[in-house]
Amino acid sequence: MKRVAILGSTGSVGTQTLDVLERLPGAFVVVALAAGRWSPCLASQVERWRPATVGIADPAPVREHFPDTHVLTGKDALRRTVEVAEPDVIVVATPGLTALAACLEALQAGRVLAMANKEALVAAGALVMRIARDCGGTIVPVDSEHSGIWQCLQGEEPRAVAGLTLTSSGGAFRDTPVHALATATPEEALRHPTWSMGPKITIDSATLMNKGLEIIEASWLFDIPPAQVAVVLHRQSIIHALVEFIDGTFKAQLAVPDMRLPIANALTYPERVFADLPRLDIARLGMLSFEPVDDRKYPSIEVARRAAEAGGTHPAVLNAANEVAVERFLAGDVRFTDIVPLVATTLDRYAERSRSTDEWASAADSIEAVLTADAWARATCRELQP
Ligand SMILES: NC(=O)c1ccc[n+]([C@@H]2O[C@H](COP(=O)([O-])OP(=O)(O)OC[C@H]3O[C@@H](n4cnc5c(N)ncnc54)[C@H](OP(=O)(O)O)[C@@H]3O)[C@@H](O)[C@H]2O)c1
Repeated sequence: MKRVAILGSTGSVGTQTLDVLERLPGAFVVVALAAGRWSPCLASQVERWRPATVGIADPAPVREHFPDTHVLTGKDALRRTVEVAEPDVIVVATPGLTALAACLEALQAGRVLAMANKEALVAAGALVMRIARDCGGTIVPVDSEHSGIWQCLQGEEPRAVAGLTLTSSGGAFRDTPVHALATATPEEALRHPTWSMGPKITIDSATLMNKGLEIIEASWLFDIPPAQVAVVLHRQSIIHALVEFIDGTFKAQLAVPDMRLPIANALTYPERVFADLPRLDIARLGMLSFEPVDDRKYPSIEVARRAAEAGGTHPAVLNAANEVAVERFLAGDVRFTDIVPLVATTLDRYAERSRSTDEWASAADSIEAVLTADAWARATCRELQP
């Protein structure tokens, strides 16, 4: 039985991971669960799965809730959870950079990461991939588009790849005219047309910054320049990604838009298993459509490409500024159309500072370098007036 740890077990990806495990009895043992804080959801997961270790970021005492479990709390809880539980595979389903140290710990020990989290790769891709390479760790993507590419690439030579294409549903505002976006409310932006996900990623889908981040994620995962990663609007969310080969052939990966499919794929890799999940009825699919992305409506992609091109710690700044801008929008502090300009201005200021201060032109080659850029971006973006 494979030993599994789930970081972020109470969230959207985390709960769907446990649903997949319910469907594969006898194949896995849950050795650790981790979340941000104690909750009835976490308590019922611990009751059901009886993991030996539980990690909770909140330092508040919780041991009385889990008398038979090794409970780790506080800032370093995720990393220590991975260290203590010794899982074969770690599902990384926490947001932001919260699990960066835990990911590095796991890769250093040569473990497998089933990686839903994209921010760690965006902000610290050079570091994460170097440690994976040097220490024999494996990263299997869970993000649906990257899982699609991963599946299309099996058995193919890297030099045969001409380019990658990520599909996007277009998010909550795909049919909203540009002039109406300024008054869009958080409730409207949180109504995703095809996927059910956590709030941050749903807003990123509405701005299409999610695709910007995914371009950088794909570039690191598949060792391909960001310029060779395209984005296309595909309303049905049936094709998740395409790979173009040098002979002009495309391979596409199709499945119902249900995160449990890429989760199951990553957990059971390199095998495929029957988990009784929803299936496509190809004959009833009807039309699958593709449209170019409207750059005027979705400036986020260009901003993300700029950060990727600048390299070093610029993608960490992009990621952190975006998190703050989304938080400000959800709190009613800025408009929907302010999100991307706030990120772009933060990046511009960072680029200016990097040019004038030598020590700032740093590579993203240590956790400290990434977290320093992250903290600077958060503080700057929080203070900016739209
Ligand atoms: N949702 C999707 O369908 C989807 C698809 C592709 C990629 N992703 C990526 O997967 C990641 C997770 O997304 P999500 O939508 O599942 O998020 P979510 O629903 O917000 O869940 C986040 C999980 O992480 C935990 N967490 C938050 N802060 C933590 C901390 N400091 N230490 C330990 N645990 C912490 C939360 O626990 P508490 O609730 O106790 O705070 C919760 O269990 C993101 O990087 C996202 O971009 C998600």
